[in-house]
Amino acid sequence: MLRLAVLGAGLIGREHIARIAGSPEASLAAVVDPSPAAAAIAAAHTAPWYPDFATMLAAVRPDGVIVATPNQMHRDHGLAVIAAGIPVLVEKPIADTLEAAEALVTAAEATGVPLLVGHHRRHSKMIRRARAIIESGQLGRIVAVHGFFWLVKPDAYFDVAWRREPGAGPVLLNLIHDIDLLRHFCGEVASVQAFGSNAVRGFPVDDSCVVSLRFTSGALGTITVSDTIPAPWSWEQTAGENPAYPRTGEACYQIGGTLGALSIPSLELWSSESERSWWQPLQRSRVYDTDADPLVEQIAQFCRVIRGAEPPLVPGREGRASLRVIHAIQQAAATGQRVDLLPG
Ligand SMILES: NC(=O)c1ccc[n+]([C@@H]2O[C@H](COP(=O)([O-])OP(=O)(O)OC[C@H]3O[C@@H](n4cnc5c(N)ncnc54)[C@H](O)[C@@H]3O)[C@@H](O)[C@H]2O)c1
Repeated sequence: MLRLAVLGAGLIGREHIARIAGSPEASLAAVVDPSPAAAAIAAAHTAPWYPDFATMLAAVRPDGVIVATPNQMHRDHGLAVIAAGIPVLVEKPIADTLEAAEALVTAAEATGVPLLVGHHRRHSKMIRRARAIIESGQLGRIVAVHGFFWLVKPDAYFDVAWRREPGAGPVLLNLIHDIDLLRHFCGEVASVQAFGSNAVRGFPVDDSCVVSLRFTSGALGTITVSDTIPAPWSWEQTAGENPAYPRTGEACYQIGGTLGALSIPSLELWSSESERSWWQPLQRSRVYDTDADPLVEQIAQFCRVIRGAEPPLVPGREGRASLRVIHAIQQAAATGQRVDLLPG
């Protein structure tokens, strides 16, 4: 059994703790979080509780650490774990700024300590299948993609101060998942344009944003994000990965190529039966795959990485690359200008 510690036992930290508890190959080495609620969670799992990482390290040396603290703390917490020589899975976004992301990637690469980023959707079996369909050429050359993150977060979600501030917000917290997947499907992003708005919630961070993307492949993309629309089109409410979100049966992404189009998560494939023409009926097939819980798959991969059996599926560099696109979107929304991303 590998012994994993969880740093930050909030919303997602508790999800990780539950997955570790259910894992056949990992056990909970410690819960590190200064809040009294975290001490109770540790006790419920008969795991030791520590208010901070240094205190934990003096008593326990886990095989791996999951950093699930607020974005603004990922840098310092990730660097502390790397400095201790312990493999680390840092929740997404890898950090709140590009400089912080750079510091984490540099430290991990200089020391050879594995750094994984919690873009857990890439661990989804359905997403692997979607990528295989795209790579097989069934859709032809990818022309355009469209994505939605439209849902409504309950007001109580914003009782936690850091979620109302720059360094949080749905562009950084949620859109980064979608951008990471669109990069996974379509390759690197070359340019972005965006408009943002905080008109509904009135926080210092935008609640809604519309984005246009140009990929280096030439494919185009549009995606809109809002945490204040009661709507059925988001990963959370369509993918069914977390039963806490009522499932709507709708789609959150559409990917279109010269030979057909794919809807996600249903993996419904539309293609021309004979010639490419709007007069011709389209063939519709459904390549549905029952999905495994990607958070469980992510823990399993973390264990394989710790054992040295394979490299991280989403290494620090990938987390940094998705953050770069988010940063460009924020810049484009702030300035009204197109932002070109330099390769690298
Ligand atoms: N992968 C996903 O789908 C997903 C989902 C939700 C959140 N996240 C990410 O996880 C991170 C946490 O988000 P959340 O919504 O769970 O936040 P949260 O506010 O619910 O939890 C954060 C926890 O960190 C603890 N904490 C604060 N300071 C600490 C410190 N110095 N040391 C240890 N613990 C400390 C807090 O007490 C709290 O329990 C964010 O980066 C967020 O983007 C990822």
